[in-house]
Amino acid sequence: MTGRLSIRGERLYQELEFLSRFGRYTDRRTGLEGVNRLALTAADGEGRRHVVGRMRALGLEVTVDRIGNVYARRPGRRADLAPVMVGSHIDSVETAGRFDGCLGVLGGLEIVRTLDEAGRETARPVVVAFFTDEEGCRFGTDMLGSAVATGRIPIETAYALRDRDGLDVQGELRAIGFLGDRPVALAPPHVYLECHIEQGPVLRSRGADVGIVTGVQAISWHDLTLVGRSAHAGTTPMGLRADPVAAAARIVLRLREMATRGRYGEGMRATVGSLVPRPGLVNVVAAEVTCTVDLRNPDDDAMRRAEADLIAYYAEVEREEGVRITWRQTARTSTVSFSPVVRERVRAAARDRGLAAEEIVSGAGHDAQEMARIGRAGMVFVPGEHDGISHNPREDSTPEQCERGVNVLLDVLLSFADEERS
Ligand code: GLV
Ligand code: MN
Ligand code: MN
Repeated sequence: MTGRLSIRGERLYQELEFLSRFGRYTDRRTGLEGVNRLALTAADGEGRRHVVGRMRALGLEVTVDRIGNVYARRPGRRADLAPVMVGSHIDSVETAGRFDGCLGVLGGLEIVRTLDEAGRETARPVVVAFFTDEEGCRFGTDMLGSAVATGRIPIETAYALRDRDGLDVQGELRAIGFLGDRPVALAPPHVYLECHIEQGPVLRSRGADVGIVTGVQAISWHDLTLVGRSAHAGTTPMGLRADPVAAAARIVLRLREMATRGRYGEGMRATVGSLVPRPGLVNVVAAEVTCTVDLRNPDDDAMRRAEADLIAYYAEVEREEGVRITWRQTARTSTVSFSPVVRERVRAAARDRGLAAEEIVSGAGHDAQEMARIGRAGMVFVPGEHDGISHNPREDSTPEQCERGVNVLLDVLLSFADEERS
C-alpha cells in the first residue's frame, strides 16, 4: 500500500523566500523588507523568469499566452483528458509581503516536485499557472490575465489599458519579454484549484488550520477626478472657493458612513486608497484631485444599491462644492460561489489530515473567481499571523500553516487528477 504523499513545507518556504528577492525593498518608515513587484515592471519580469526557470527545472512544458499568463504542464497518462489546473499570481501591490499569490504558484510547483519524487503519475495532466496582473494596482483592473483568459475582458481592451505614466499593457508585456503567442482563450480544465493566504483575521481568530472558501464578494472600483479652482490659501475667502480636496473629503466620509451604518449590510467595505491633490502645496487651494474608490460587498443587491447611492452623492457634492467630478468604473465583479464538489473535497482532505477547517467567504479578489466562470473552481485558505495583515510587508504565515494548506491542495488535486470520467 502506498502512503499518503505530503509536500515539504520548509522547501516551499525557502522558495517563497527566493521569489521575494525580486522586487525587494526596505520600507522607509518601518525598516521592514517588503516586495514591490507591480505587474509588468522589470521586477515582475525578473520574478517571472525565476519562476519559469523553476518550472523548466521540473521538466514542465511552459507556454505563455498573448496576455502574459504562464502555464506549466506535467503530462498525465491520458493526454486526451482535460488537465487539473492549480495557480494564482506572482505580481504584487507596491507594498507587499511574500505570500499573496506566490503561495498558490510555488505551492503548485512544490506539489509537482512531490509527485515527481514519489514517481506518482496522474491520469490527467497537471498544469501550474500564474496569471498576469491579478492585483490591478498598475493598470486599474484586477484579475486582468485570468479575466482575459476566461472571456470577461477582451484582449484589445486589456492591451489598451494604461498606467499613470501612459504606458500600455501590450507594450509593457513586450518590454519584459512576456508577450507570448499562445491564444488567450482557455479551455475549461477538469477543475481549477487555488491555495491562497486569507489576508484577514478570521481563520486565526476561529482557530482554523485551513479555510474552505465558499466564494468571493462583489468588487467595484472607481477612478475619480475632481476639478476645482486653484487659488491662494491666504487671500481667497472660504465662500469663494471651489476646493476639490474638501469635496473629496466629503466623499471619503460618506463612504465610511455607508460602510458602517448597516444600510448595505454588515459586510460592506469602502476604501479610498489613493487621493492625490495637485499641485499639492501648503498654501495653494488645489486645482484637482484624483482618487480611487474600492467597494466590496458579499451581497450583489446591496452592492448595486450602494453604487447607485454613491453615484448620486457624487452629483450632490459636485453641485454643492462647485467642482466638476468625472468618474469611471475601472473594475466590477459580482459575487462568485465556488464549486460545492471542490468545497466538499477540501473539507474531506482537511478532516483526513486532522486539520480544523472553517468555511469562509473571500474578502479579496482572486483568479479562481474568474476561472469559476468557465468551470469548476475552488480555493483553500491559509491563515495569517499578525491579524492576517496583507498588502503589507508584515504579511506572514508560518511554514506549518503554508504546509497544511498546500497538503490539502495536494490531496484535492490528486482526487481530481485520477478521475478518468469528465
Ligand atoms: C486583490 O488583492 C484585491 O484587491 O482583492
Ligand atoms: Mn492574491
Ligand atoms: Mn493581493
